[in-house]
Amino acid sequence: LQGVKFLVVSNREPYVHSWKGEEMVASRPAGGLALALDPVLQAANGTWIAQGTGDADRESVDEHDHVAVPPDNPTYTLRRVWIDEQLQREFYNGMANEGLWPLCHASFVRPTFRPRDWESYRRANQIFADAILEEAGDEAAFVFIQDYHFALLPRMLKERNPKLIVAQFWHIPWPNAEAFRAFPWKEEILDGLLGNDLFGFQLRYHCTNFLETIDRNIEAIVNNEQSNVQRGGHETLVRPFPISIDFDAHVRTAFGPEVQADMEEWRRQLNLDSSGIEFLGIGIDRIDYTKGIPDRLHGFDYFLEQHPEYRGRIQFVQIGVPSRMQIEQYQAVSEEVEKLVDTINTRWATGSWKPVIFLKQYFTPRQLIALHRLAHFCVVTSLHDGMNLVAKEYVASRFDEDGVLILSRFTGAARELSDALLVNPFAIGEIAEAIAQAVHMKQEERRKRMRRMRREVEENNIYHWAANILSQLLRFEIPSTQSE
Ligand code: G6P
Repeated sequence: LQGVKFLVVSNREPYVHSWKGEEMVASRPAGGLALALDPVLQAANGTWIAQGTGDADRESVDEHDHVAVPPDNPTYTLRRVWIDEQLQREFYNGMANEGLWPLCHASFVRPTFRPRDWESYRRANQIFADAILEEAGDEAAFVFIQDYHFALLPRMLKERNPKLIVAQFWHIPWPNAEAFRAFPWKEEILDGLLGNDLFGFQLRYHCTNFLETIDRNIEAIVNNEQSNVQRGGHETLVRPFPISIDFDAHVRTAFGPEVQADMEEWRRQLNLDSSGIEFLGIGIDRIDYTKGIPDRLHGFDYFLEQHPEYRGRIQFVQIGVPSRMQIEQYQAVSEEVEKLVDTINTRWATGSWKPVIFLKQYFTPRQLIALHRLAHFCVVTSLHDGMNLVAKEYVASRFDEDGVLILSRFTGAARELSDALLVNPFAIGEIAEAIAQAVHMKQEERRKRMRRMRREVEENNIYHWAANILSQLLRFEIPSTQSE
């Protein structure tokens, strides 16, 4: 990448500054994207352009809205973009998360499309375009855009500076062409995306869906064999790049002495040493209706019904990180989970044993690694998920080669982690059965499966993902060096 600027763009910022009394503190947001890309930026020392959201974000940047991050050992620049409250409501809550998110997940929440949200989405994309063009200046630059918040950005950038090489990665699924028909501004959004030189998805399946969506809705030449699209003389390559985690850094943390202390803390908090609990199961998610949290709880409930011998001996800890709480459906699923936990606990609790503990709060990555290490099994039951990095994190934490992963077939991760116990998350009986299988599984079998899954995540780690994308980008001719 020498001599070429590397700009990464996402809505969510990798570090948030906020006030704790008089003190300014930096923290990491929840969600896979921001965590996964941080090591890539650290290695490439580029600039990450993202929305400032913390209450001390404005005080922590310089006059160019720059702040050096990671805060304790800076290696790259974070450029913050400011989005006002109304725009945030309409662009982020409205268009991105009530429109595109449910549309792309083809989940059972109906997408909502308000004209005003679309206008604000356009405006927010415009604001980001201004910031990116400013950062790029006149030099050659790669711009690497993340996710569904910025479908119009590639075209906007190319129109104003054709010298930029623009790539985008869509972290969530792309629906089939039939489901996409519901989107009201098809031509504009697809044209926006076709401004990309390279457009990446998690799976080949999403690429195929996208190519078919293009074919049916907009004037362009789709080449299915070569997986590219030509429109107005410009070509967009469409490729799968399954995202991953920084396996080595994760393992280093898992080995560290601080994790031992965090494990002790969990043991104490969950009363694991004295309560007669033999099996600990965990679920870790943002509270989101695509994650299938109620389905998993129903599955656990059914397991307790079917296997009375485990009552009093097993505990399920569900961590739910509050997310997008201004949106009604997110509040609804959060309430549903709380009620369900109460119902299950009322049904089965005896003495001091409570089968489900629901912790609705944020935990640091290290605290989660400590929990992974204590859990006999981890349950991921997304109804639909682009990748799901929780599954990969659980596997990476288990350097002892123990633990069982129960994983929804409807996640991108299921294509790689075939040694997990794969379940249909809509089938509560299958979830219960998988829990039974997990607690019965012999150590040798657990080890065999975990070893293979670890090898998979170790090889296909986040650097492998970034290297694949960057090597594609480097094949494009860089226009400014040509003209010199
Ligand atoms: C998913 C999306 C990301 C997003 C993350 C957290 O992983 O693909 O773009 O950042 O969820 O959601 P939030 O709305 O809090 O950024």
